[in-house]
Amino acid sequence: MDTIIEPFRIKSVEPIQLTSRAERERMIRDAHYNLFNLHADDVIIDLLTDSGTSAMSAAQWAGLMQGDESYAGSPSYFRFEEAVKDLMPFEHVIPTHQGRAAERILMGIVAGPDAKIPSNTHFDTTRANIEATGAEAVDLVIDAGHVPDAEHPFKGNINLDRLEALLDAEGDRVPIVMLTVTNNTGGGQPVSLANIRGAKALCDTYDVPLVLDACRFAENAYFIKQREDGYGDRSVKEIVREMFSHADGMTMSAKKDALVNIGGWLALDDDAWARKARNQLILTEGFPTYGGLAGRDLEAIAVGLQEIVDEDYLEYRMASTRYLGEALTELGVPIVKPVGGHAVYIDAKSLLPHIPPLDYPAQSLAVALYVTGGIRGVEIGSVMFGRQPDGSEEPADQELLRLAIPRRVYTQSHVDYVIECFEALVGRKGALCGYEITEEPPQLRHFTAHLRPK
Ligand code: F0G
Repeated sequence: MDTIIEPFRIKSVEPIQLTSRAERERMIRDAHYNLFNLHADDVIIDLLTDSGTSAMSAAQWAGLMQGDESYAGSPSYFRFEEAVKDLMPFEHVIPTHQGRAAERILMGIVAGPDAKIPSNTHFDTTRANIEATGAEAVDLVIDAGHVPDAEHPFKGNINLDRLEALLDAEGDRVPIVMLTVTNNTGGGQPVSLANIRGAKALCDTYDVPLVLDACRFAENAYFIKQREDGYGDRSVKEIVREMFSHADGMTMSAKKDALVNIGGWLALDDDAWARKARNQLILTEGFPTYGGLAGRDLEAIAVGLQEIVDEDYLEYRMASTRYLGEALTELGVPIVKPVGGHAVYIDAKSLLPHIPPLDYPAQSLAVALYVTGGIRGVEIGSVMFGRQPDGSEEPADQELLRLAIPRRVYTQSHVDYVIECFEALVGRKGALCGYEITEEPPQLRHFTAHLRPK
């Protein structure tokens, strides 16, 4: 059979509240044209993020009842630790309430005013946590990673020549090298095992640990299975283990590929760093066997980690994201190619060439998509990245609208509705206008900024 079905049935449903176009026009105006300010029940299809939005399985809900809420030494922690180590054999596994808490603790230990931390592309919270220590976050993705329509099987790869040049010139300022798998900011693109091995070899030469930002590790592993020579016959679980065998640590947002609504962890091999991390954890998150999570959250992660490496699930996951991407391409909507794992990224710069980057074309598209069909995506462009640490504003590398697909939540008819909304939108794209920011906080402005049409 050619039809790839959702490999699950629906046991419990949540109603979606339908709204009219006139209502949405009012609501987005009241939200100061920032989709983060909307009430979620005023959204029909919420593609804001794939983070924390997964539907949990019956086995995960059952796991919640097994949660042991002991303050110290909970058996739920040990089940969580075992599930993590089954895939990622690090010495120390330190739970946190979500990914950015792991980042903050790690950066508090390794970064600081003179440090430089390279990655393929840092996610916004990672970058902000690095910069908050006074360090510099350096993005070194391969050239193809900057070109939205460049077809490359591993567009998330780090440029090893540039990494080597940085380590050679300033290695003593580089406390860790990071790799984001998949590369979210660059379009959800995977990193190959060859590239992970290459980065690790350079790290070994310059005696610098390699840390994976591993939120979407299973999707990355499935891309490796599909695209990298020599891995077609290997199981996803084996590929995952090989990916992490080359790393010295990881930060994780369990809200993505652990199929839960909250949680994360920091895992490290180094005893001294782990000791410092646990001390920090106790100050800000909680005791090391719960780290800001309930015992039941740890149980749900443990089950989620077993489910995420299921290859029927991963095949369906990739096929459903690709289905949206291919349909948009047929409508003439330019997207980042190839389609990433968790999201379709629309190249708003090329769809809306009449809107200059600093008039935020991807924000304009995001607002128009909401007004058209109640669909919420997220701008990944100059609203998110334009403000520089020195206070100036520069256009971002790309102006993207990300449509992230929550895991196991929407069916094909929801996606068909999204496609139909785009069909309506493309016909009147010339009428879309630019935006300006009227209010913004000093950091991570996209979450709370106010905008207005220009
Ligand atoms: N790293 C990457 C690559 C991410 O995509 C995220 C979160 C984080 C770190 C931080 O994790 O949210 O648990 O603190 N990404 C979400 C997104 C928010 O929508 O892409 P967190």
